[in-house]
Amino acid sequence: MFDTHLPAWDGEVCLSRFDHETEAFFVIAVHSRKRGPAAGGTRAAVYPTHADAVLDAMRLAGAMTPKMVAAGLPMGGGKSVIALPAPRHRLSDRHWRQILDVHAASLSLLNGAYWTGPDVGTTSADMDVLHAGSGFAFGRSAEAGGPGSSAPATAAGVHLAIRTAADDAGLGDLKGRRVAIQGLGAVGLDLLERILGDGAQIVATDVDAQRCERARALGAEIVAADRILSVESDVFAPCAMGGVIDRAVAATVNTAVVAGAANNVLADPEAADELARRGIVFAPDFIANGGGAVHLVGREVLGWSTSEVGEHLDHIAETLREVFDRARASDGNVDRAARAWVAEHLVDPAPAPDADRRKAAHG
Ligand code: NAI
Ligand code: PHE
Repeated sequence: MFDTHLPAWDGEVCLSRFDHETEAFFVIAVHSRKRGPAAGGTRAAVYPTHADAVLDAMRLAGAMTPKMVAAGLPMGGGKSVIALPAPRHRLSDRHWRQILDVHAASLSLLNGAYWTGPDVGTTSADMDVLHAGSGFAFGRSAEAGGPGSSAPATAAGVHLAIRTAADDAGLGDLKGRRVAIQGLGAVGLDLLERILGDGAQIVATDVDAQRCERARALGAEIVAADRILSVESDVFAPCAMGGVIDRAVAATVNTAVVAGAANNVLADPEAADELARRGIVFAPDFIANGGGAVHLVGREVLGWSTSEVGEHLDHIAETLREVFDRARASDGNVDRAARAWVAEHLVDPAPAPDADRRKAAHG
C-alpha cells in the first residue's frame, strides 16, 4: 500500500521524525507553495503504522492545495500528522506538552515554509503552545491574541454548501428535508444547529455517546454509527473522517446530496463517477469545508474582520455553482470538474501574504 501510493504523491516535500522520548512519530507534508506558504492543520491520532501516518499527511496536504485555491486564499497546501503512542485522553498533560514542543521545533526548522493550525485532535490551546514555540501556528485562542477555533466558520461554509447543493439537486430549501450527519464534533454539532434552524429533520451519529446525547437533546434522531450510510436522507453530511464513500458506498447510499466537512470524503475516484451516474449531487469537500481556512488565513494573514470573513464565505456557494454547471456540461462528475477548475486557477495571481500584517497579527 505504502509503495503503491508513495510514487503517486505530487507534493514538494514530506518530512518525518520519530522522537524516542515521547514515542510520538511526526510528519509534515508540504504539498504546494505555488500560491504562497503552505498551510494546513495538525492532526493528532493513533495510527496503525507509521506508514499510515505518512500517507494520511500526504493525502491531507494534497487536499489543502485545492482548498486554498477554491477559497481564493494566497496560501499553499500542507498538513502535519502526529502519530500518538496512545489516545490523547490517555496521555498526561506533561507528555502532550512535550509532544507539542517537539512539533514546534520542526515548525521552526521549516521557518515559515509551512504554517500549521488546528485539526482533529488539536485545539486552539495547542496552537497557543505551537505558536509560542515556533511563530508559525494559526488559530490561537482569543486569550493568546488569536482568532480562535476554525470550526464555526467551517460549519457556516458547509451549511452554505449544503443549501447550494440541495438547490442544485432540485430539493429547494431544507424545510422538512431529512439531513443525515456523520460525526458530531466541533463542526458536526454546530452544523446540526444551523440545519435545524432551516426547519430540517436530522438523523445523526457519532462513535462518542456523549456527543450523540447532546445532538438528541437538540432534537436529532440518533442512529448507530454503522447505520448512517444506509439511512434514507435528502442530504448526507460526512463530518467525521475521510474515505467514507468508496465506489460500493456510492452505489448504495440512499440520498440526493453528499456535502460535508470531512477532508477527502471520497475513498477512490470511481466513487465520484458512481455518484454522478446515480444523479447524486456531490459538493467536493475542498470547496465545502474551506470556511475554516478562510477564517484562519483571512483573520491572521489578510487582516480581515469577522464580518469580512463571513462575506468571503459566499465564494463557497459561487464556486460550487460554477463547478456544478461545468459538470453538467460534461460528464456530470463534479469532483473531476472541480479539480479541473482548481488546476486552471492554481496560479491565479493571488495577493502575496503581507509580511508586515502577518507579523503584526502574530505579535
Ligand atoms: P472533531 O474531532 O471535533 O469531530 C469529529 C467527530 O467525529 C468526533 O466527535 C468523533 O467522535 C466523530 N467520529 C469519528 N469517527 C466516527 C465514525 N466512524 N462515525 C461517527 N462519528 C465518528 O473534528 P471537527 O473539527 O468537527 O472536524 C470534522 C471533520 O471536518 C474532520 O474530517 C476535519 O478534518 C474536517 N474539517 C474540519 C475543519 C475545522 O475547521 N474544524 C475544517 C475543514 C475540515
Ligand atoms: N484543519 C482545518 C482544515 O482542514 C483548518 C485549517 C485551515 C488549519 C488552514 C490550518 C490552515 O481546513
